[in-house]
Parts: sequence; structure tokens; C-alpha cells
Amino acid sequence: MRRKLICGTLAGLILVALALAASCRSDGNDSQERRNEARTPDEKTEEGRSVTGPVKIGFAMDTLIEERWPRDRELFRQAVESLGAEVEITVASGDDALQIKQAETMISEGVDLLVIVPHDAEATAAIVKKAHAAGIKVMAYDRLVKNAEIDFYVSFDNEKVGELQAKAITALVPKGRYVYIGGAETDYNAHLIKKGVFKVLQPLIDSGDITVVYDQWTADWVPTNAQTNMESALKANRNRIDAVIAANDATAGGAVAALAAHGLAGRIPVAGQDADLPAARRIAEGTQTMTVYKPIRTLAETAAGLAVAMARGEKVEADLMLNNGKIEVPSVLLSPIAVDRSNIEETIIADGFHSWDDVFRQDRRP
Ligand code: BGC
Repeated sequence: MRRKLICGTLAGLILVALALAASCRSDGNDSQERRNEARTPDEKTEEGRSVTGPVKIGFAMDTLIEERWPRDRELFRQAVESLGAEVEITVASGDDALQIKQAETMISEGVDLLVIVPHDAEATAAIVKKAHAAGIKVMAYDRLVKNAEIDFYVSFDNEKVGELQAKAITALVPKGRYVYIGGAETDYNAHLIKKGVFKVLQPLIDSGDITVVYDQWTADWVPTNAQTNMESALKANRNRIDAVIAANDATAGGAVAALAAHGLAGRIPVAGQDADLPAARRIAEGTQTMTVYKPIRTLAETAAGLAVAMARGEKVEADLMLNNGKIEVPSVLLSPIAVDRSNIEETIIADGFHSWDDVFRQDRRP
């Protein structure tokens, strides 16, 4: 009996010692390794991570308001699942504190990698810190997280979006009075788009051909805020405006509504981006000049592929490094496409992004 007790105690001590030895081998990435080990005894990479286990990706989105985001959500979900991984998706509805809380929950639940669409480029740096403390890597999706040691960034070339908009509008209006309706100041994309726009406008501003008579951000990208901005621009300039560049189709819609109230819709070129259905319809009817099409499927599939590979501990390749104020972030930037009435059929309609009927047969709207 006594001997049994001693043996039992010894066995217990050995188990504790083994467990301690294992935990002493820990380094910064061990929480990730432990999650994978617990999940699957499958093949391991050199770093010790599982390569075939069902890793789990957390996708912390900002909003589903603009038409593109539900598409991003579904395509990202499908792409992750088709790679044999799991995904959990949260939406913060433009609330920074909620986005941080949702990410914290996914971190504590033990996701293998976090993908964020930040509402506020700076506030979400807190998420990156917390994820790293738990050994979880973080990818920025579409919008960059500023001033954080983010591990990867996948997006479209947002500066190019702005360049495409300004090139299309200056080709139609090489001289005149321009209005710039910016995006949300808290979203770094809004800054990149604006940079691209002004890269094209600046030489024409310098030569005196173009005057920017109004230039404002649009809080949270809300169309009614853009409409109010456009109203102010019209009022301040007694309707003497020759062109409008808006940071996305939602804000372009607000601008067109303000122009329409003054009988000016269709008489002043307007640019947007996203290829939203209402914008495609405005292009068909002539109240919006152009949009910038970003094939969301390519973004979602590229990001999902990289996220799952990173979660499995595989090495991934970046195309370029982008400075986010703190580090050079390994990044992949996809190409946006300028769309106007002349190429709408061979781009967004040919791709199945919208159907011909939805765009052109507006009488068939449900
Ligand atoms: C995205 C746009 C979108 C906007 C508002 C930007 O960061 O790049 O596609 O329209 O946010 O959600």
C-alpha cells in the first residue's frame, strides 16, 4: 500500500517534471504551437507547426454597410473553408471599442491568425499588440493598420485608385473648378486615395488650369455627410463647379443627390470607386462618369490563401514593403481598374460582378 503510494507520487512528480520541461522550451510563438499540437498530430513544419490541421482564422471586420463588404465576408469565408481551415467573423459596425473587444475575444478563444479590416487605422494598433502577446500573427485586409507591427497587408493599390479617378476626370475637364469629397479621415485608404488624386491634379493646379474650390473628408464614408459636403461646396461657389471627385461610390452617390437637387446631375463629371450597383446604374444613366472596379474575389482569395499559409507556419512571399509609420510591412497590392460607360460591359459585367440586366434594365428592379 505504502509502496503503491510512493510509486503514485513518483509518477505524478515525473509527469509534473515533464510538463515543466516542455513549458521551459517555450518561446514567443509557443502559444501558437500549443494550439496546433493540441489540435492535430499531423505533419509538422520545421517551426513545429501543423501543416494539415484545421487552423482557425479570425476575421475582424469594421462594417457591412457599403455593398462590397458582405461580398468580402462571403468570399473570404468560402476561400478559407475551401483551404480546409475554419473561420470566425465579427463586425464592429464602426465602433472602435467593439472592434478591439471582438478581436480580444477571438485572441482568447485561440484563433491561429487574425485578419483585420480596421475601422480606425490607429486605434486598431492595440489589437496587434494583444495578438502578438498571445503569439498570434495579424494581417491587415484592404485597410492598413498604422503604427503597429502588423505582419502582412493585402489590398488594392489605393493610391492608384485616386490616380485613375483624377486621370479620367482631368481628361474630360482639363481646366476648371474641382470639388474633392474625401473618404473617412480615420481610414488610411482615404489618405492614399487622396494622395493619388492630388498627384495627378497638382501639376494642373500649379499651372493654374485647375482650382480645387472645396476639399473635405466625409465622416465614416456616410453618403448623407457627403451630400451635405457637396451642398456646402455648391453654396460656397454659387453652383460654379466643373468636376467632382469622390473617394468612393457611396460618397459619389451623396454628391450626385446634391447635384440633382440643383438640376446639375449628369451635367458635371463625377468619379467614385467600388463599382457598387447604384454607381454602375448611375454610369448607365449618365449621372456618374466613372468608378474604379476592385475585383473583390481576387482580394478575398489572395488574403485567405496567405492567411491560412501563415497560420500553418508556412513562409509567404510579399510583393513589396509599405511603411505604416512604424515598420516596413510585407504587402501584396492588387490592381484596380477604371470603369466608365465605354468598358463597363467588358469589366464588371463580364466578370459577373453585376449582371447586364441589373445595370441597364433599371425598369426590372425588384
Ligand atoms: C475601402 C472602400 C470602401 C470604403 C468604405 C475603404 O477603405 O477601400 O472600398 O468603399 O472603405 O467602406
